[in-house]
Amino acid sequence: MTELPKVLDEAPGSSKEPSFFSNLYENLNQNPYFNAGAGLAGIGIAMSFLRRTAQISNTYFRRRFMITLQVNNEDAAYPWLLDFINKRSATQTRNLSANTVVHQAESGKTELSISFLPGHGTHFFVHDYRWIKVERQREKQVIQRDGVRTPFETVTLTTLGSDVKFFKQMLEHSAKEAIDNAETGLVIYQAVGPQWVRFGVPRKKRDIESVVLDGKICEQLLQDFQEFIGSAEWYADRGVPYRRGYLFYGPPGTGKSSFISALASHFGYSVCLLSLSERTLDDDRLNHLLNTAPPNSVVILEDIDAAFVSREDPMSNHPAYQGLSRVTFSGLLNALDGVACAEERITFMTTNYVERLDPALIRPGRVDRKQYFGNATDGMLRKMFARFYRQPSDSELAEQFVQLVSEHKKELSPASIQGHFLMHKQDPRGALDNIKNMFRSV
Ligand SMILES: Nc1ncnc2c1ncn2[C@@H]1O[C@H](COP(=O)(O)OP(=O)(O)OP(=O)(O)O)[C@@H](O)[C@H]1O
Ligand SMILES: [Mg+2]
Repeated sequence: MTELPKVLDEAPGSSKEPSFFSNLYENLNQNPYFNAGAGLAGIGIAMSFLRRTAQISNTYFRRRFMITLQVNNEDAAYPWLLDFINKRSATQTRNLSANTVVHQAESGKTELSISFLPGHGTHFFVHDYRWIKVERQREKQVIQRDGVRTPFETVTLTTLGSDVKFFKQMLEHSAKEAIDNAETGLVIYQAVGPQWVRFGVPRKKRDIESVVLDGKICEQLLQDFQEFIGSAEWYADRGVPYRRGYLFYGPPGTGKSSFISALASHFGYSVCLLSLSERTLDDDRLNHLLNTAPPNSVVILEDIDAAFVSREDPMSNHPAYQGLSRVTFSGLLNALDGVACAEERITFMTTNYVERLDPALIRPGRVDRKQYFGNATDGMLRKMFARFYRQPSDSELAEQFVQLVSEHKKELSPASIQGHFLMHKQDPRGALDNIKNMFRSV
């Protein structure tokens, strides 16, 4: 009897029969290719899990323990910040970009100024004991500013920490540094038609000490101005118009105009120049100009007496000026009173002929402080000599100079003394020896 195949002995579905899945498992298990694949897949899953975890913890870490600041080149702080970074990272980075500015005067004289900024890419620098990562990136977009197209750029700063104040303080620090270094000069406005127009490039500031005045005049005026510009609230609280008028009078060449410019620039003010003897100036224009002076500026009305003589002025009848009305006295008063606005207004008036002025013009409210600028006193002579020739004020030469001048018993304006010194720029002895020349021109 032939034996039945073993398989038939056992009922189908009995527990002894290996299941489809176990078979599959068995087979797969023995399959070296699959085994390797599953291993790889396992590794892959584990890796991606790890990567994900790393990503999440990285994000978490960044959020919790890192601060980031992004500034783009549309922001005013951008060049300051780059400059700030550059100053600190110069030793650590070798990747610089140059920014060259060419100034060419009309005469053809050319000046170059080259500044180096951190180049595009990644840099590191230390500020306030912290390492900061800098990424400067250039984007594809282009921005247009002042008619110039420049690529859009961003700088991203990252550092360890959780307090954004750190970056805020750093930005303030960089802004302060930039502002302190900026070559600020005295900005001069001139009246062109009904408007104030900036005249030329900002002039170099004149040191207030370089205008030599008698006694304590300089200190007193400085203090007065300082007090006025610091008391806006005081005026507002009392409803007093926030204005101050100064009248400087005295002979020509005694430093009235020079002192006003030096004083204005000392406090960071610009000056708006207006001469009442200008023939195209009339009441309306004067009124408009006085009420539209640029912020942070002082208005200088030169030759204030000109408004008094205009009626008798023979030039008024000159054909060239016919049809042009001139500033009248009442026009000047109205313009000075102006509309009572809360804005600060500081007016300086100068004249050589104070005796011609009407009391109405110099009453308080229009002129709050009068100051006489006189010819050189002994003290001024000594100080001017010492300043000009860089000598101590008690030097023998300065003393001799004062002696020689007083022997002539003639008053001299500081302007004529300055003129004499300029003839003997490097030679204080020569200035003494030729002192006679100084009196010839007086
Ligand atoms: N007190 C001074 N100290 C130093 N320099 C002075 C002084 N006064 C005048 N100068 C010099 O003389 C020149 C003329 O001065 P400034 O124009 O200020 O005189 P001013 O009093 O305004 O004269 P004017 O009444 O004619 O307008 C300037 O170059 C200035 O440097
Ligand atoms: Mg003057």
